[in-house]
Amino acid sequence: MSKRKQSEMTVELTQQGDLAVLTLNRPKALNALSFAILKEIGEAIDRVADMDVRALLITGAGDKAFCAGADIKELRNRSLVDQKRGAELGQAVFAKLDRLQVASIALVNGYAFGGGSELALACTFRLASPNAIFGLPEIKLGLIPGYGGTQRLPRLVGEGRALEIIMTGRNVRAEEAAQIGLVNAVVEGDLMEAGTAFAAKFTRYSLPVLELARRAVQRASDMPLHEGLEMEADLSTLAYRTNDAEEGMAAFEEKREAQFKDG
Ligand code: CAA
Repeated sequence: MSKRKQSEMTVELTQQGDLAVLTLNRPKALNALSFAILKEIGEAIDRVADMDVRALLITGAGDKAFCAGADIKELRNRSLVDQKRGAELGQAVFAKLDRLQVASIALVNGYAFGGGSELALACTFRLASPNAIFGLPEIKLGLIPGYGGTQRLPRLVGEGRALEIIMTGRNVRAEEAAQIGLVNAVVEGDLMEAGTAFAAKFTRYSLPVLELARRAVQRASDMPLHEGLEMEADLSTLAYRTNDAEEGMAAFEEKREAQFKDG
């Protein structure tokens, strides 16, 4: 837990039922990611690991932005060493989401630019409100994405689309984002409710088995097909060894609902 008082924090972490909710709370600056906020996000994700929750929702305070990216005002006049450390900090913080034992869902209201898009890309899933606008506009600043965007975007939407989005820095509106697979769904109405309903579609299943499924899919794009198939054989065998697999298969035969116990 950070030594700063909760009142001074710009990242809030709460528990709502069996979900953790992380809120970027700097709406006056469109929730831009100062280095202090990045560190707070990292600390909050570490705390989620100790919470008794089944998924993490990430949202931005205010109705204008999920997050407008790295704090541009902090980026100027930095040494190259500091700049590289900054990129590595952002990458390391977002990579914590890959290793978290529960899935994460970005709830994107309004702008998700630069590091904001990269935070959403690092989540397991993305839901967008109809007014959501994604973009990696770094090129307009004479920069390129540095918090994982050049690596995660092509994995999600393909190299050609990723190059076009990154090299033009253009906006991608919610509807297009859904068409190209950048978001899982565009949802009308209350995003938090939609996120809770989306999470409920998978959180009733076995947590360790869900984690194995995530690991297998995440690693798919890191390895050649035959290595990936070997890894899948190993992880699916691990899933088979869980008590939850035994329960799931018994419940099928006995024509009843499975009672998973996360073991
Ligand atoms: N950094 C710092 N402050 C930011 C910010 C950012 N990324 N984005 C917005 N703000 C601040 C503005 O400076 C403004 O503050 P003041 O009122 O003190 O001037 C406040 O938030 C509101 O913003 P605007 O007045 O600009 O609001 P708008 O509705 O006119 O425009 C916007 C909204 C189109 C998102 C525009 O703010 C914008 O283009 N922001 C920058 C987006 C961007 O380029 N992001 C990429 C950053 S680089 C990066 O992220 C690198 C990486 O890979 C990690």
